[in-house]
Amino acid sequence: MLTNTIENIRNQFPFLTNKVSGKELIYFDSAATSQRPQSVISAINEWNSFANANVHRAVHHLSACATDNYESGREAIRKFVNASKREEIIFTSGTTASINLLANTIGGVLLKEGEAVLITEAEHHSNIVPWQILTQRIGAKLIYLPVDESGQWDMEQLDTLFESENIKFVSAAHISNVLGLVNPIERLIQTAHKYGAKVHIDGAQGIVHQEVDVKKIDCDFYSFSGHKIYAATGIGVLYGKESLLDILPPWMAGGDMVDTVTFYKTTYAKLPLKFEAGTPNFIGGATFTPALEFARSVRCHQVEQNERMMKDFLIKELTSIEGLEIYGMGENKSPVYSFSIDGIHHSDIAMLLDQMGIAVRSGLMCAEPLINKFGKTGLVRVSLAPYNTLQECEIFIDALNRAIRMLR
Ligand code: ALA
Repeated sequence: MLTNTIENIRNQFPFLTNKVSGKELIYFDSAATSQRPQSVISAINEWNSFANANVHRAVHHLSACATDNYESGREAIRKFVNASKREEIIFTSGTTASINLLANTIGGVLLKEGEAVLITEAEHHSNIVPWQILTQRIGAKLIYLPVDESGQWDMEQLDTLFESENIKFVSAAHISNVLGLVNPIERLIQTAHKYGAKVHIDGAQGIVHQEVDVKKIDCDFYSFSGHKIYAATGIGVLYGKESLLDILPPWMAGGDMVDTVTFYKTTYAKLPLKFEAGTPNFIGGATFTPALEFARSVRCHQVEQNERMMKDFLIKELTSIEGLEIYGMGENKSPVYSFSIDGIHHSDIAMLLDQMGIAVRSGLMCAEPLINKFGKTGLVRVSLAPYNTLQECEIFIDALNRAIRMLR
């Protein structure tokens, strides 16, 4: 039964027929970008061939089809995260653009001079740099919630930070792309709200591994990318509570985000278009429909069981390799393993694995401050998806041991 389900999933992914260095590709880099199922690839081809026209503009039939497809993608997202209204789903080009949208609009509205933004030590660069720029620009402070040695947020410091600093905005990852730990975002959101701060959750990894109900967790903003959850690349989402999106000013300006324009004055379109200037990636937006249907289909017992088996196996095998250290340990672990090996450079391991047909990520993983905190110059990362198997994990462990023997 388990084998049938996973085989059925694998049959939906044409990339699995790839060969690398003459070997069947083992793709362990889904945290960087997931592969796309045939349903998404076919939809992209179909819409490029037969439904390619600019959206929200013309009255002609093809434009209406393209608009329907794009807006259906928005509706699929709304349902997937359980937002109340389509107005709360803003299309962006990805998580980075979603965070930049916020960092370029909350100044003077949700964050003023002398106030503070709280992030954590385990953030991706895209959830650090925009806040550095904003806080420097408006004279606000940037504060970090520390992570402990195992990569967990130091929740004991949370109340202390809120009591001692004038924090008005919080932005934190649901799951760190390095540590793979599911962070206690509900507690963070409740605490922040108690002190009158608004919260954005970077869900680039979280949306893939967790069920997200924005009403239940009560976040103010939640962002994610299409390409990590089986949809097209170059498209992403910013969810925001309507009452907050309404009071934020537009950021990018141009067509589609306006109501009326005169030579000297413009009134803006209503949500969500107020934040969607220019021709959007409308085919990308539409791919959320088949992509999220696939994502929903893999939230089942068999896939969970397969994931559990792979995780148990990898933890047991990786922790028994001499000199190997995993960053991010705990019960709340998603299938993302970043590690270092004493005396061996991360990119040498990744290159040898590549020659054996195995794709892993290596380096700073866009989280240089965190990796520096652990005293490392880079790590190797293995990240799994529902199309991976225990057998692939076994081949990987053999290959890793072989690479270590070659490099020691
Ligand atoms: N943020 C992506 C990663 O972690 C690119 O690999």
